Amino acid sequence: MSEIIVRRAKREDCKVILELSKELLNYEKMSDKPEIDDKTFERDGFDGEPLYLCNVATCDEKIIGYAVSHYNYATWCGKGMLLQDLYVTPDFRGKNVGTKLLKAVAKDAIENGCHKLDFLVLEWNPAREFYKKHNAINLSSKEPWLRYRILEKNLKELVSE
Ligand SMILES: CC(C)(COP(=O)(O)OP(=O)(O)OC[C@H]1O[C@@H](n2cnc3c(N)ncnc32)[C@H](O)[C@@H]1OP(=O)(O)O)[C@@H](O)C(=O)NCCC(=O)NCCS
Repeated sequence: MSEIIVRRAKREDCKVILELSKELLNYEKMSDKPEIDDKTFERDGFDGEPLYLCNVATCDEKIIGYAVSHYNYATWCGKGMLLQDLYVTPDFRGKNVGTKLLKAVAKDAIENGCHKLDFLVLEWNPAREFYKKHNAINLSSKEPWLRYRILEKNLKELVSE
């Protein structure tokens, strides 16, 4: 197999990364549909202050996996990082590509003063084993947090009340 290279994503990778993000949504059986186009994704990552960090894995210059992360903040520990997406195309799974991508995210986190890396994993996803191998702690089994969201329309209502 040709060498797998993990590198920072470039502006011109955005279209392919969004394609892979659709594959991830399908894999996760999420009803969410992609609501941004590649121009928006490109702007948010590459114009001005980036809203996310993105690393890609390539084989023969083709993107075969990616990771998207961004910073978060907690009053009890300060700066942290949230892993939003981690995806490796089916043909390249089990070949250490996910580990290489996670390492790149960990390096970003450490080099930028983050004290933790958070992420969500669906209960049925066998990727839980992958994270376990990398010493991730399942917080849901220890702390009874529930996931909440206020949608944009309700945010607007709140503002206009
Ligand atoms: C999860 C994912 C990123 C892992 O990437 P990968 O390149 O296949 O993983 P690696 O080859 O680096 O695996 C590292 C270790 O984790 C284990 N592992 C990886 N995926 C696993 C899975 N689905 N089930 C069980 N173990 C798994 C591997 O067996 C390996 O263990 P070893 O070191 O003892 O051999 C990849 O399988 C994927 O993209 N899955 C679909 C999307 C997804 O679930 N993303 C995560 C959303 S939270």
